Amino acid sequence: MKSVTKLLSIGLLSTTAAFAQAQVNEIRVWAAACATCHGTEGRAVPGMAALAGQPQRAIEQAMLDFKHGRRPATLMHQIAKGYTDEQIAQIAAYFAAQKP
Ligand code: HEC
Repeated sequence: MKSVTKLLSIGLLSTTAAFAQAQVNEIRVWAAACATCHGTEGRAVPGMAALAGQPQRAIEQAMLDFKHGRRPATLMHQIAKGYTDEQIAQIAAYFAAQKP
């Protein structure tokens, strides 16, 4: 009985890890859509806003402001509308964790 519990918990653990990995991959796909303009993993070419290593809150706030029309933009208001607030928080966390 004890070993069954052990096996079960190992199974649960690896499922959780696989789920977490799948989620990370999904966030990478969202973030890749920003690379065209903001550079690979947010390391932008000079003249373009770099996202890598910026505070999560700053990126998230900027995206939410674009999305809700609180900050004027040429493109970002359109782009930001394509993501839920939850996705924006995750994308912001992703870029904040990248090396500038
Ligand atoms: C087609 C080009 C393009 C893409 C794709 C793009 N951006 Fe932008 N981004 C811009 C431009 C241009 C600005 C300046 C504001 C404006 O005019 O829209 C900007 C500004 C920003 C800013 C504010 C930066 C600052 O320091 O002021 C953030 C944050 C941002 N983008 C995040 C993102 C994220 C996250 C993605 C992907 C989901 C993304 N952008 C995709 C072009 C792009």
